[in-house]
Amino acid sequence: MFGDAQVKHHLNRRRLHVAPYPQSLRNNFSLAATEHAVRELSTWSGYQPTRLVSLHPIAAEFGVGAIYYKDEASRFGLGSFKALGGAYAVLRLLQQQIFAQRGEHVSARDLENWTSGELAECAEFGELTANITVVTATDGNHGRSVAWGAARFGCRCRIYIHAAVSERRAAAMQALGAEVVRIAGNYDESVRVAARDAKRPGWYVVSDTSYPGYTEVPSTVMAGYSVLMHEAMQQLPRDIQLTHVFVQGGVGGLAASVAAYLWEKLGAERPRLAVAEPAFADCLFQSAVHERATKVCLTEETIMAGLSCGEVSKLAWEVLHMAADDFITIPDALVAPCMRMLAHGKFFSNADAHNTEPHDDSANPGNGVEAGESAVAGLAACLAACANPSLKVALDLNRHSQVLVLGTEGATDREIYQKLVGEVT
Ligand SMILES: Cc1ncc(COP(=O)(O)O)c(C=O)c1O
Repeated sequence: MFGDAQVKHHLNRRRLHVAPYPQSLRNNFSLAATEHAVRELSTWSGYQPTRLVSLHPIAAEFGVGAIYYKDEASRFGLGSFKALGGAYAVLRLLQQQIFAQRGEHVSARDLENWTSGELAECAEFGELTANITVVTATDGNHGRSVAWGAARFGCRCRIYIHAAVSERRAAAMQALGAEVVRIAGNYDESVRVAARDAKRPGWYVVSDTSYPGYTEVPSTVMAGYSVLMHEAMQQLPRDIQLTHVFVQGGVGGLAASVAAYLWEKLGAERPRLAVAEPAFADCLFQSAVHERATKVCLTEETIMAGLSCGEVSKLAWEVLHMAADDFITIPDALVAPCMRMLAHGKFFSNADAHNTEPHDDSANPGNGVEAGESAVAGLAACLAACANPSLKVALDLNRHSQVLVLGTEGATDREIYQKLVGEVT
């Protein structure tokens, strides 16, 4: 299965190996911004680092030293890592607006107290935020995060989804109070419609993708994502040095935040970074091949709904073109086997000895990992590379490799999950 998979690989010859983290990237990505996001998000009620799982039986079977899986299924109860980005950007936007209009800094707690009716003194800020509408396009997870942030901090929310987004994902955003507008086209068109409609007073785009003239909010979103790398670095066993990271790309925001974080933190000692995408939506791969941001036309929707993007994020590409080592595309056929492998992985263990908080495994009777369709692309690319002798050599994967993969979502659409995985015993 993995050895026969139609996997494409592009080695990024523009990658800067030994250069220090460039000054030109610091405005948009910095460890200082990560630290700020960690300080902020770790004060939110419901915050808990997600677990890091060691997939040792899989690593042994595929001939690498270790594979660590950062399991984002439990993130803030929203099911994906996106909970770190959109909601954080909503808070920052509201804080900026209040500061601009009233000259005062309010905390997340102040705004939450107002929305829950607990703090009458915050009413004047609450009235201000209640007249703000945050607008975004999504294929599910980012919109859920923005809708949750809007509900939590007291503003309105309007979300654009494309034709292929599942009804259950739309309903999850509506349940958080968002107005959901379905458009006829694909994800890239929904981004354009959201940006066009948001030109009204009091409406603000809170997008996870960046385009010319729109960078500040996406850079905040990506700073939020980097919290998961901060956690992972603390959870990894102290005696290991990561050699590889496999991360999936939609518009590239997550991959760029991971790449920038590792570059600034570890310099030339950073692990090799491979960006995995669906073959049906390979805008990052094509951008690497053409050595410039390149649009692809989505002719078929991939099963990896969160990765179904044809246009790269401007900010993300500014990092990835010089920070990513490898670009890999995988076929949809690898997704269900990876999800099943994780679901049935009875011998996995938590890698993070320091993280002793109990996790809710009630959805995983076999102690496996519940991974959604978009969560497994990085793992699938890693396993396909390990199962292909020439690719294994090209990627320098061997029994000494210490690999991190990012399991970016849980079962964010349970019906699709069950269809792909079947009953877990
Ligand atoms: C579960 C999941 N993983 C990965 C990604 C990719 O993130 P990005 O679009 O920032 O590349 C997404 C995007 O929505 C997602 O939902």
